[in-house]
Amino acid sequence: MSILITGGAGYIGAHIVRLLQERGERVVVVDDLSGGDARRVAGAPVVRVDLASDGARAALRAVIAEHRVTSIVHFAARKQVGESVAHPEAYFRDNVSSLAAVVGAAADTGVARFVFSSSAAVYGTPAASPVSETAPPSPINPYGETKLAGEWLMRDAATAYGLDAISLRYFNVAGAGWDDLGDPAPLNLVTIAIDRIRQGLAPVILGDDYDTPDGTGVRDYIHVLDLAEAHLHALAAVGEERGRHRVYNVGTGRGSSVREVLDRLEEAARSGLEPIVEPRRPGDPPAVVADPELIAEELGWRATRSLDDMVASAWRASEHRAQTVR
Ligand SMILES: NC(=O)c1ccc[n+]([C@@H]2O[C@H](COP(=O)([O-])OP(=O)(O)OC[C@H]3O[C@@H](n4cnc5c(N)ncnc54)[C@H](O)[C@@H]3O)[C@@H](O)[C@H]2O)c1
Repeated sequence: MSILITGGAGYIGAHIVRLLQERGERVVVVDDLSGGDARRVAGAPVVRVDLASDGARAALRAVIAEHRVTSIVHFAARKQVGESVAHPEAYFRDNVSSLAAVVGAAADTGVARFVFSSSAAVYGTPAASPVSETAPPSPINPYGETKLAGEWLMRDAATAYGLDAISLRYFNVAGAGWDDLGDPAPLNLVTIAIDRIRQGLAPVILGDDYDTPDGTGVRDYIHVLDLAEAHLHALAAVGEERGRHRVYNVGTGRGSSVREVLDRLEEAARSGLEPIVEPRRPGDPPAVVADPELIAEELGWRATRSLDDMVASAWRASEHRAQTVR
């Protein structure tokens, strides 16, 4: 019996793979390696499949049969907001068609336990913060739309095929649980700032005139290992009731400002580079923080790691990557 992890060779997926392996669980990874790296999941079988390709559903049925899969965690997706605006069709292909193939294969084979990687991007620009799951979803870019469409597919498939599914809406994921599993993509505040510092460039603050305590934007950052543990709780909670789809925020409930994050990063990096302030990005809300109470009450999960842990581990992982690449 094993757990199928799609997109398991990516940043977050590789953390769940390692955590499950450490707990003695059997896993099988399906990934097209477009953004992932099989070296991140050494020791796990990796089957290379483009989940949006014609043969994906049949290929998945074979993987499920061969590895006696009983649960699925679906991470495989593209995740760049700007790219999703420029190439929406690629996002609907890789984020929605891929999920349809995985859900179809689950239905074909009777696998009912399903956890889906959603995103706080489904909320768009929330009217109030903290944001609870009852806030109306209103994505503001194709990436967020594909995640919301994914949740709808999970809901409808749960009804049609008797899945017991959970969609997890992640807030801002950062850090590394192991030095070799850092996030290599400079796409969020932490990884972009690290990338700049490594090039000898000062990190950038986009706007310091928001109505927040220090004037810079406030977000909810979640340590990737806390997030990985939330998946273990979700996996333990699915399978008891057929035809059910639940949605949970995964965040800390604590906001950190851009300046605070960069201060912590400087403590780890000791670069001597003072952040530079540039104008706000249009549409960026001042503060977005998760209300994480529902998952705490229903699944018994809470984040335990600090912003310091997140930023310091992300920096260490970037040092590790720099040494490995050299
Ligand atoms: N990183 C974040 O901050 C964040 C926040 C919210 C939600 N998420 C979601 O979490 C999931 C994992 O994100 P990540 O940060 O690990 O991204 P990642 O890019 O590191 O990993 C995604 C993996 O999916 C694979 N993949 C992409 N398209 C595929 C396809 N068509 N067929 C097979 N494999 C494919 C890639 O090769 C990669 O290994 C994604 O669904 C993402 O939308 C991430």
